[in-house]
Amino acid sequence: MSVLKNKIAALIVISASLVGFSSQAVAEDYQRLLNMCIACHGVDGSNEFDSIPNLKGQNAAYMVVQLKNFKADTRQDKTMSKVAKLLTEKQMQAMAEYFNTGKEQD
Ligand code: HEC
Repeated sequence: MSVLKNKIAALIVISASLVGFSSQAVAEDYQRLLNMCIACHGVDGSNEFDSIPNLKGQNAAYMVVQLKNFKADTRQDKTMSKVAKLLTEKQMQAMAEYFNTGKEQD
């Protein structure tokens, strides 16, 4: 139970810190952004949160379309709408490939 509470607290901190990103930092900091994705979606794209989709093995082209939709507000979510606005198309593609393979590539 307390483990779950800690995780929820961590998610809240992550969400709150999204507001602090400047667009300049975003372009330069792919790894930092990816770490943020991983905090919710899991290091290999699979996670234990009921409300967060597993991305492991998901079609990369589909994920890029979803990220573009979040960025354009044609798909809306409290978190993802903010997150996607920080991403360039190149970063979306790299992240989609990362989660599609479902393993760390570093
Ligand atoms: C605070 C938690 C959180 C963070 C951080 C986060 N996501 Fe998400 N993500 C979600 C949730 C929740 C959804 C489901 C949104 C919905 O219901 O529409 C989602 C949905 C998505 C989807 C669509 C999945 C589908 O099946 O349609 C993609 C792709 C995605 N996220 C990628 C990312 C990437 C890439 C990052 C990092 C740049 C990221 N997410 C960061 C919580 C998060």
